Amino acid sequence: MGNTRFIPALTVALLLLNFVVSFSTKITTNISTDQLALLALKAHVIDPQHLLTTNWSSAFNICKWIGVTCGSRHRRVIALDLSNMSLSGIVPPHIGNLSSLTWLNMRNNNFHGSLPIQLVNLHRLKYIRLSFNSFYGEIPSWFGSFPKLQYLSLSYNNLIGKIPSHIFEGLPRLQVLYLAVNRLSGKIPLSLFQCKKLEDIDLADNSLEGILPKEIGNLTMLNTLHLHNNMIEGKTEST
Ligand SMILES: *[C@@H]1O[C@H](CO)[C@@H](O)[C@H](O)[C@H]1NC(C)=O
Ligand SMILES: *[C@@H]1O[C@H](CO)[C@@H](O)[C@H](O)[C@H]1NC(C)=O
Ligand SMILES: *[C@@H]1O[C@H](CO)[C@@H](O)[C@H](O)[C@H]1NC(C)=O
Ligand SMILES: *[C@@H]1O[C@H](CO)[C@@H](O)[C@H](O)[C@H]1NC(C)=O
Ligand SMILES: *[C@@H]1O[C@H](CO)[C@@H](O)[C@H](O)[C@H]1NC(C)=O
Repeated sequence: MGNTRFIPALTVALLLLNFVVSFSTKITTNISTDQLALLALKAHVIDPQHLLTTNWSSAFNICKWIGVTCGSRHRRVIALDLSNMSLSGIVPPHIGNLSSLTWLNMRNNNFHGSLPIQLVNLHRLKYIRLSFNSFYGEIPSWFGSFPKLQYLSLSYNNLIGKIPSHIFEGLPRLQVLYLAVNRLSGKIPLSLFQCKKLEDIDLADNSLEGILPKEIGNLTMLNTLHLHNNMIEGKTEST
């Protein structure tokens, strides 16, 4: 056959082409993953001020989108600041695909529903600020899976039920905890007092109960502690 020599060459060429295609798709995968996640978020929210409507456009690089900050080397989304934008709607599960996210601020909007479990994929999160929204339901126990989390604010929402007893075991770096003005009940979990780096705690205006444990003394970095408008008794050691 005249073309037998041609077949290995063609195979090599095809393999090479395949390599080039898969290599280039691999490079763009992460950016488009972040873009798809943000576009899914945009599709799930009502945006009365039209802040995202034209700005979050595929015609522009996501790193230039309002509220979006990318890392300098990998150009992945590292911070999302959607605070004070009057957005309403649910947070879609796609947010869990922003795998380089370290900073999430959605303060002061009208987000409702429960928080998607896919958030748990964001292992790099250091800062979560979701206060002044209408998030509903119990604080999920997977909230105790953020090894780098330093700041957690869920104040001014409609959270109910007990604070899961073990979540603080998984938050060793926590410095700030704001859960004020919700409808949380039950006792303050003892695991809270393992978070040795805590500086500010605000649990005011809930329906928490019980006696403030003496382990509060373990929190040597503590600067502020707000517990008012609960049913917590502060018992002193001398009584
Ligand atoms: C792209 O995403 C994959 C899978 O999520 C991850 O393993 C890889 O480190 C990412 N690459 C970059 C450059 O961030
Ligand atoms: C989107 O908003 C950012 C930040 O305000 C701004 O710098 C950028 O020019 C806007 N892009 C478009 C296409 O309007
Ligand atoms: C959102 O509003 C708060 C309170 O008015 C303000 O402190 C904060 O700087 C605002 N955030 C942005 C990104 O404008
Ligand atoms: C992102 O997340 C959603 C929902 O969790 C999933 O269906 C989708 O396949 C993920 N990947 C990309 C690239 O969007
Ligand atoms: C508080 O500190 C004491 C003494 O260091 C220790 O035995 C105890 O386990 C700590 N309690 C908690 C809840 O971390």
